This record gives sequence, C-alpha cells and structure tokens, in this order.
Amino acid sequence: MVDPKSIDFYSLGFNFIETNTMFVANHKNGKWDEGELVPFGKFEISPASCVLNYGQGIFEGMKALRGKNGEITLFRPEENGKRFNFSARRMLMPEYNSEKFIDAVKKVIKANEEFIPPYDSGGALYIRPILFGYGPILGVHSAEEFKLIIFTVPVGPYFPEGFKGIDLEISKLYTRAAPGGTGSAKTICNYAGTMLPAKEAKTRGFAQIIYLDAVHMEYIEEVGAANFFAMINDKLVTPRKTGTILEGITRESILELASKKLGLEVEERDISYKELYDESCTEAFCSGTAAVITPIASVALNGQVRILNNREPGEITIKLYELLTGIQRVEIEDEFGWIIKV
Ligand code: PLP
Ligand code: COI
Repeated sequence: MVDPKSIDFYSLGFNFIETNTMFVANHKNGKWDEGELVPFGKFEISPASCVLNYGQGIFEGMKALRGKNGEITLFRPEENGKRFNFSARRMLMPEYNSEKFIDAVKKVIKANEEFIPPYDSGGALYIRPILFGYGPILGVHSAEEFKLIIFTVPVGPYFPEGFKGIDLEISKLYTRAAPGGTGSAKTICNYAGTMLPAKEAKTRGFAQIIYLDAVHMEYIEEVGAANFFAMINDKLVTPRKTGTILEGITRESILELASKKLGLEVEERDISYKELYDESCTEAFCSGTAAVITPIASVALNGQVRILNNREPGEITIKLYELLTGIQRVEIEDEFGWIIKV
C-alpha cells in the first residue's frame, strides 16, 4: 500500500500510482451483483478470457477535484455513465445502471480521499472505470461473465508541457478509426493501435499525432487521446461527429461555453488539415478529461511546419481554459449544472 503522505502532489504527471481501494462488480448468469469496495490489488483471470484474447473491454476517464473550501467535486459524471453504456453496447457487454455507476464512483473517491491532490497543486484524482469480458471463450463471441472495476490515481497534467503549446504531427500513415468501426466507443482496442504511432512521433520530437479521417486522409479527426479545436475565420471549429471520433464531454462543454459565454460562432464540420496552414487559422487546442485544454503550438506534416500564434496559447484558448477550469474548480458559478458534489 502506498502511503499518501509519501506522494509529492505538486509534481505529479500522468503516471500510475497505487491508491488504497477499488470498486468491483461482477456480471454472471445475466445479472450484476451488488458490487463492493475492496483493497486495490490483483485478481485471477483465465488465459482464455475474452478481454485477453479479443479485446472485449471498455473504459472511462473522470476527475475528482478538491475545491478551495475543501469540497470534492465531479464534472458531468452522468455523461460518463451514458458513454460507458454506449461503449458497452458496442462491445456486446451488459450496461451498468447510471445511478449505480455514479454512486460507485463516489464511494471509490471517498475511500481514496487522502489521495486527492490539494486545491493549490492543480492536480486531480483520476477515476478509471473499466468493464471487460472476464469469462473464458475460444470462438470470436462475447464472454458470458464480466467484471467492472473502478480505481483511482492522483494525477497532474497529461502533457508534461502543462498549459503550454504542444507540437503535433499530422499523420498520413496511420489512422485511428474507420467508418463502421469502434472509433466513437471508448474501447481499449482503439488505444493499443495508437501506441506505435505515438512513440514514433515522440522520437521525432512531437507530443502526439493529429489523426485524419481514414477515407480521404484529409479531414482532422482527433489528437490521440483528446478532441481537436481551431479558430478559423474567427469561428471556433471542431470536427463533426462522424462516428469515428470519441465524442468528448469536454468537447461538448467547450462548444456550449464558447457560444453561450463567449458569444462565438461555433461550427462542427469537416476540417481539412490544409486549413491549418492558412492564415485564417489563428489558434488551435485539444481537449479532454486528461488533457483539459492544451494549446497547440505547431502542427507539422512531412517537414512542413505551421507555427500557431507564435507558439503561445491563443486568446480564445485562454478564455475557454479559464472558464472551464474555473467552473470545474468551483471558482466560477456553475450555471450549467455540471458540477456534482461528492
Ligand atoms: N478523444 C479520445 C480518443 C479520448 O480518449 C478522450 C478522452 O477521454 C477524448 C477524446 C476526450 O473526451 P472527454 O472530454 O470526454 O474526456
Ligand atoms: C481521458 O481524457 O480521460 C482519457 O481517457 C484519455 C486517456 C486515454 C489518458
């Protein structure tokens, strides 16, 4: 067991740190058991389990934050519950009741309260619900037994750069998802295939990849583990939901903040990567639970580099970051009803 007092909450990155307690529920004979909190730890699994052989597994990512006055909050957890069930259906696994999902998440947070980074550290307790085909199979079909686990990890910024611009490489070699595939589900298989491209991009000095659509290799889809936004012709644009992007909860929230709080025109549309090379594109950023809002300093394709806003976070990027994190940290009034107290 890790002693929370031994953790330096002020220099956290996005790395695994063991916390004390996890939630486990089992689905057997067509129904879920009650589920329980147990010490974080290993469990037995058959080598023939569906998740190990055919990747029948999904996950979610959420953050619990510690507010200035000590309260613990979650951001739109019901949306994670909904997406969890959407992903479960796509991977032929049983859904989990959304109220019970939020209840279990709250229980795990409370049990690991000592691991929530302090308010002034800027960190969070990352919550990782996973659901997978646990039972043994041989042919390619669903498992008959499933396991839901929720564990937590204290985290700092996803990109070590923090709120500084990152350099991204547009890939014309790799894609992340294809029409009819599983791109909009948060299935574990979507992530395994992005590890090699990300590693290769890193050796060339890029923080991540901008994936293009698999049909035309032209339209921006997303950034590895975050959604993409740009300011083009003074409008905030983001790729439309094509079924191949992960429909981010941060993305949805940013669209609402941009139009309702900043009075910006927003567009969900096809965005050619070529538009990023035009002067009408003035800033860009990516968004996600882990990435929050991360400014994009430059994009590159085959050595052709476009520097954005002198590598500085753009004006709109900063405003949106301040609004989003202000609401999440309960410093700005939550007029949208997004914050839930734990
Ligand atoms: N795109 C991908 C591939 C992701 O893994 C994530 C992270 O969850 C996102 C986008 C952003 O989604 P959200 O804002 O719901 O965290
Ligand atoms: C998140 O933002 O929560 C994610 O799931 C991204 C993750 C793959 C690190």
